[in-house]
Amino acid sequence: MKIAVLASGRGSNLRAIVEAIDRGACAAEVVAVVSDKADAAALDFANERGIATAVVLPKAYADRPAWDAALAETVASYSPGLVVLAGFMRIVGASMIARFAHRIVNVHPALLPSFPGAHGARDAIAKGVRISGCTVHLVDAGVDTGPILAQAAVPVLPGDDEGSLQSRIQRCEHALLPRVIDLIARGEITLGDRPTFASEAAAAATVMLAG
Ligand code: GAR
Repeated sequence: MKIAVLASGRGSNLRAIVEAIDRGACAAEVVAVVSDKADAAALDFANERGIATAVVLPKAYADRPAWDAALAETVASYSPGLVVLAGFMRIVGASMIARFAHRIVNVHPALLPSFPGAHGARDAIAKGVRISGCTVHLVDAGVDTGPILAQAAVPVLPGDDEGSLQSRIQRCEHALLPRVIDLIARGEITLGDRPTFASEAAAAATVMLAG
C-alpha cells in the first residue's frame, strides 16, 4: 500500500514507519513526505532515505481553503492509498477530507476523546489524570474526532512533566502507528464510518497497555 506521510516537525513517527517497513513489519511504501513547514526535520530524514518530498506553505495561499485544496492536489499527485498524519500540526480541511474520505489516519498523543488539540500531553498533566496514551484515528471534519482505530495506554507518573510524558507516549506511537498501517494494508482493518476488524486478533493488536 502506498502511503503519503504528512509531518510538521521532528518526524520520529515517520522514522518509525520507515524502519518498520525496512524490517518487514509494515506492508507499506512511503511514496511522499509532505509538510507545511520548509524546515521540518521530517523532510531531512525523507531526503536521506530518497523519499519524495513536497512543502505546501500556508502563507503562499490566500486563505485556508486555498491552502487545503493545494495540499490535496499535491498529496493526490503521489496517488497514495492512505494518508498518514504523523505530527502534522494543522487541521486538514474539506478538500483533503473529500479527496481522501476514510483514507486519512492521524496519531494523537492522548486517549481521545480526552485532550484533543495541539497539547495532548500537557493537557493530561494539567488535569492530573493517571493514565494517558496515544490514539490512532480516522480523520473527519472535526478536530481529533474521527473513528478510533487503535489506542495505547501509558501511566502518568509522579514528577512527570509534558516532556517526559510526551516521550513515554511517543514510544507507544512508534509501535502502534506502523502496526495500524500494516493492519490496514493487509485488509485486517476495513476503513469507513465504522471501521471493522477482520478478526479478534486484529482487534486485539490495536490495543496496547504499556508500562
Ligand atoms: C507526535 O507525538 C504526535 O502525536 C503529535 O505530534 C508529535 C509529532 O512527533 N501530534 C499532535 O499533537 C497532533 N494533534 P514526531 O514529529 O516526532 O513524529
